[in-house]
Amino acid sequence: MTVNPQLQALFTSLREKPRKRVLFVCLGNICRSPAAEGVLLDVIAHEGAQDRWVVDSAGTGGWHIGELPDRRMRVHARNRGIELTHRTRQVRPSDFDDFDLIIPMDANNLRDLRSLAPSLEAARKIVPMATFIDPSMGYDHVPDPYYEGAEGFELVLDLLQNGCRTLFTQLSDPR
Ligand code: 4NP
Repeated sequence: MTVNPQLQALFTSLREKPRKRVLFVCLGNICRSPAAEGVLLDVIAHEGAQDRWVVDSAGTGGWHIGELPDRRMRVHARNRGIELTHRTRQVRPSDFDDFDLIIPMDANNLRDLRSLAPSLEAARKIVPMATFIDPSMGYDHVPDPYYEGAEGFELVLDLLQNGCRTLFTQLSDPR
């Protein structure tokens, strides 16, 4: 993974934090971002690092507030041993205080988050998910699976499992 100096400085500061707070963001908060939340929590549980991470997800849109993730997303995640129990919510201004890293799934989410960020400092917390995904997978974003078939949901989980493993490693204290 190649990281520019500004991102490297952010990751270094997060590595030193005893508790890293991560918010995943997509459009609806029913497919990609709750899946990312579940996948990262699964990595964290396998590593026994639950006390060092806070993980949540939210949507830039507000159509599905209070709902569980899309049933198809839950079924595909469950097939990989991951239960998605998040309840959909919309991004709120306080998220920029409450989280250290805010991770959009695609360019639209990135644009919308940048317009919501209350300051330049807050905007620096926004790091696209693709930053963590191995370039050999061929994706510069996590594609919306909502109108896709089963393969769309499998692709999302493949990308997220790859990216969240790298995210966990990048932000973990090497000691
Ligand atoms: P997500 O997918 O952003 O990955 O949760 C979507 C889910 C629902 C809608 C759009 C995207 N929608 O328009 O309802």
